[in-house]
Amino acid sequence: MLAVRMLEQTVQIVSNERDTDSYFRLVVRAPRIAPLIQPGQFAHVRVLPLKDALLRRPFSIFQVNGDTFSILYKTIGKGTDALARMGPGAELSVIAPLGHGFTVPKRGGEVPLLVAGGYGMAAMYLLAQRSPQKGIVFVGGRRRVDILCENEFAALGWDVRVTTEDGTHGEKGLVTKPLQAELKRRAKGRKLFACGPTGMLKAVGQIAEKSKVSAELSMDEHMCCGVGVCLTCVIPVTTGDGWEYQRTCTEGPVFDSRQVVWEVAR
Ligand SMILES: Cc1cc2nc3c(=O)[nH]c(=O)nc-3n(C[C@H](O)[C@H](O)[C@H](O)COP(=O)(O)OP(=O)(O)OC[C@H]3O[C@@H](n4cnc5c(N)ncnc54)[C@H](O)[C@@H]3O)c2cc1C
Ligand code: FES
Repeated sequence: MLAVRMLEQTVQIVSNERDTDSYFRLVVRAPRIAPLIQPGQFAHVRVLPLKDALLRRPFSIFQVNGDTFSILYKTIGKGTDALARMGPGAELSVIAPLGHGFTVPKRGGEVPLLVAGGYGMAAMYLLAQRSPQKGIVFVGGRRRVDILCENEFAALGWDVRVTTEDGTHGEKGLVTKPLQAELKRRAKGRKLFACGPTGMLKAVGQIAEKSKVSAELSMDEHMCCGVGVCLTCVIPVTTGDGWEYQRTCTEGPVFDSRQVVWEVAR
């Protein structure tokens, strides 16, 4: 199903504050966009002071609150560095909500197991908040500062299991370690939802296949237009008689893990 309702708007920053280390939370007022947002969708943001960078940057929509929505972003380059320097009252151009998001679990249905790496947690919050069925959130990062909004997920009533690669918080190792241990319990009726780096998504897809549980993966691909025109963001996806390229910005970013053809994917 394609997202058919999206708007291009100039919006005002309400707040833009540091979370941990190089991560920031940005809240914008967008009364026409906020009510349309579904879990797993993203906003395509043009940082207006960056005159020489015409391309927008995609960010998962983190939280929705009345007529505002927020993103949780990591500063890694030109666009995000410029964004971090903007303050309340400044304007951004956004196209949102974009993309095909997660399927919200049903009450009494499969127990959701969310798996997030780093800023992948941002894509998970609305899903956890709007799911009537609570489950487990497996969150991983390199260091303690890469573990985001652990307490906010716990406050929603979810069981949060933390791993860090350097062992400075939670269990030492990769996020897939406690996930595999949990799936070995062979409890029935679970479904995985994942967002994070491509290596993590591939591992989650393989674990899902081996454990015979279904999984929805939010794919992180470089994007230019964000609205289905330029084909920068395509990934190989299975179809009835083989595979075809589909656009992460429109058919995705969320795909069923069984659809992704990893042998062909970059
Ligand atoms: C659907 C989607 C949702 C996203 N959600 C978030 C989010 O919630 N929070 C967040 O912090 N980031 C998110 N990202 C990644 C974010 O779009 C990039 O970090 C951002 O565009 C970088 O812009 P920049 O100008 O700062 O970096 P640039 O100067 O453009 O690039 C700096 C470095 O970042 C790398 N980079 C650029 N784009 C991406 C990308 N899409 N994924 C991985 N590396 C990239 C470049 O290869 C380069 O090494 C998301 C990406 C997608 C596709
Ligand atoms: S980013 Fe242009 S088609 Fe997806």
